[in-house]
Amino acid sequence: MTTPITRRELAALAGAALLAPTAYAQNEPLLTRAIPNSGEPLPAVGLGTAYVFDTSDAASRRSAEAVVQALVANGGRLIDTASSYGDAESVLGEVIAPAGLRDKLFIATKLEQPDAAELKRSLTRLRTAKLDLLQLHNVSNRRQSLARFKEWKAQGICRYIGITSTFPGDFGAIEAVLGRDKPDFVQINYSLDDREVEKRILPLAGEVKAGVLTAVPLGRGRLLRAVRGKAIPDWASNFANSWPSFFLKYLLGDPRVTAVIPGTGNPAHMIENLGAMRGRLPDPDQRRRMVAFVEAL
Ligand SMILES: NC(=O)c1ccc[n+]([C@@H]2O[C@H](COP(=O)([O-])OP(=O)(O)OC[C@H]3O[C@@H](n4cnc5c(N)ncnc54)[C@H](OP(=O)(O)O)[C@@H]3O)[C@@H](O)[C@H]2O)c1
Repeated sequence: MTTPITRRELAALAGAALLAPTAYAQNEPLLTRAIPNSGEPLPAVGLGTAYVFDTSDAASRRSAEAVVQALVANGGRLIDTASSYGDAESVLGEVIAPAGLRDKLFIATKLEQPDAAELKRSLTRLRTAKLDLLQLHNVSNRRQSLARFKEWKAQGICRYIGITSTFPGDFGAIEAVLGRDKPDFVQINYSLDDREVEKRILPLAGEVKAGVLTAVPLGRGRLLRAVRGKAIPDWASNFANSWPSFFLKYLLGDPRVTAVIPGTGNPAHMIENLGAMRGRLPDPDQRRRMVAFVEAL
């Protein structure tokens, strides 16, 4: 049974995040990006859910509830999950539906195959009749077809379709499907220390007008561990007020990126990550400095 987070607990978590040094006024406009195929604005920081809500138990539901409430209360909308992320779809469904939050969210999930039974299972677990984005997970073969996904989109079961990979060895397959089937989104590994997609996937995504979601934007936490105990350099202080915003804003500094989806099971981290939608973004010179900075770590 779900134990709802109390108002007091949520206020304490939000308060902790607000105590973090911030150079930005809380009433500044939040960064949104237009989904290329529709023009629909999407808040540029979302929530990734790999690993964090794997087990359907009271502890997972409590942290999911706090993270989702923090997302919505701080201007976010996008949640990325997958049929293969343990119980994450079920945990999210158990939290979102009773709180009446479905309409405030942009829910993206992934199927391993274009399989009707797998789709039905995801819809049931997420407790929703419709998805915002349905993605084919880990595309690895250039002949994989999005025909079923296109039918489901035409039937109104999902509003957008996409493909994903975080394996550079499969980028050839991603390019083939992206160029041929022209999905609405591609989700790909992109972080300040993993920039292969700048050469290959981002240019093609721009050509075929696919929105880009960046998987693993903090390098699974690797980037944050690499700067532990270090101060943000002075030259970055006009756009980054925390290390998560430094790393996420590097990605958002590329206008082809529609949204970053850092994974977290911690509501204070969720609020901190959403802060990357506030204030300035690094310019091209600053982005080059950021690359040099990380390469020298
Ligand atoms: N093939 C695919 O389609 C694919 C593959 C991989 C990932 N993805 C998607 O991309 C999302 C992001 O990737 P990821 O979750 O693997 O890695 P990530 O977002 O790069 O990093 C997540 C790690 O960073 C930590 N973290 C997040 N925000 C933080 C903050 N403000 N301060 C300190 N630590 C913070 C998290 O721990 P805490 O929980 O403690 O915050 C977690 O350990 C996934 O969740 C998933 O939705 C898709």
